[in-house]
Amino acid sequence: MRFHAYSFMKYKACLLTTNNPVYPLLWKEALEASGLFEPLAVVDITANDWLQQLGSGNYDLFLLRPPGKTNLFKQLYDERVHLAVSRFDVPCYPSLLEVRLYENKRYLRDWLMVHRLPHPDTFVFFDRDEAFGFIRQRKEFPLVGKTNIGASGNGVVVLRDSIAASDYVARAFTEGLRPRSGPKVFKGSLVAKIRKAITMKGFLKNRLKTYTTGALNVQYHFVILQRYVPHQFEWRCVRIGDSFFAHKKLAPGGMASGTLLKGYDAVPPALLDFLKRVTDSHQLTSVAVDLFEDGAGGFLINEIQCYFGQSDPWQMLVDGKPGRYVWSNLGWVFEEGMFNTRESYDLRVRHALQLLKSHKVQN
Ligand SMILES: Nc1ncnc2c1ncn2[C@@H]1O[C@H](COP(=O)(O)OP(=O)(O)O)[C@@H](O)[C@H]1O
Ligand SMILES: [Mg+2]
Repeated sequence: MRFHAYSFMKYKACLLTTNNPVYPLLWKEALEASGLFEPLAVVDITANDWLQQLGSGNYDLFLLRPPGKTNLFKQLYDERVHLAVSRFDVPCYPSLLEVRLYENKRYLRDWLMVHRLPHPDTFVFFDRDEAFGFIRQRKEFPLVGKTNIGASGNGVVVLRDSIAASDYVARAFTEGLRPRSGPKVFKGSLVAKIRKAITMKGFLKNRLKTYTTGALNVQYHFVILQRYVPHQFEWRCVRIGDSFFAHKKLAPGGMASGTLLKGYDAVPPALLDFLKRVTDSHQLTSVAVDLFEDGAGGFLINEIQCYFGQSDPWQMLVDGKPGRYVWSNLGWVFEEGMFNTRESYDLRVRHALQLLKSHKVQN
């Protein structure tokens, strides 16, 4: 914190991220709008001198923005951010667990399994013969093949039968698997598009760099297979601090991710209860949780992400009105309002401020 001439102190936040010009933009805007922060410092944690850079700042808050495109950089990010947080007594947001779960379907499966949380049966093989053995014995098809990283459905394929599944496995253990398509530059809200267009030069350069560095996008020597869950939609649930939201991501072609088609239907209280139970018990307080309905009144966790796209100015509508749910002694209460401005970064800033203050009180 620094004293200013007009004598109120502003917090110093540092964004720990990778070399992506888009990642800091909304954090910068939202921190600035709060009026409580000095201009955001940004450290590319993939740089050789990452530790010196972090050490020179005397920061109050680390904001974490993991990369979501390639396994190599995500893995590096997870390693270094863990070390950074252990070295400096600085609160971080989102949490290390939230960051680790982000864009890591293999880890997510293991984590869900360890904590006995409901999810579609998922099978991870690092041994080709073990994978082939599994397919030979498998009666139920289709299966779904997924790459470890890769949003918008790019890395997801439906494997109709054992031949398709065997081909998939054979490919994983020979040339490797790669996400289907290139950059979706024009995906997202109008505001997001305009913002991207403004920074387009850097943005495109970066995107193209990411997508043309082919080898970085290849997933080699392991497979993730999953039971096929028939669905018309996924529930996209969001919790940020004490605010809860949910809407349906519609899946007309069998794939909800990346379509941007939404259904603002009534949210069953059981869904909010489930979301609260899972997030409370694992301190996941800044996440989107994507769920399938299991057909028996329960839910299956498909993804947990601390960063997620938002193409409308709200995360939910109730009777056509934007707002959020909060939990009170009386149960779930809907509060009308615009709680998801700046793609929910304003809400993240408010939540991060709460954590920052409670960290200060504890120390
Ligand atoms: N086990 C499954 N069974 C059927 N469809 C699935 C399954 N898993 C994912 N899908 C469909 O594929 C889409 C993308 O998969 P997802 O796991 O969410 O990956 P990502 O969003 O990271 O690309 C989902 O939105 C869903 O519609
Ligand atoms: Mg998804």
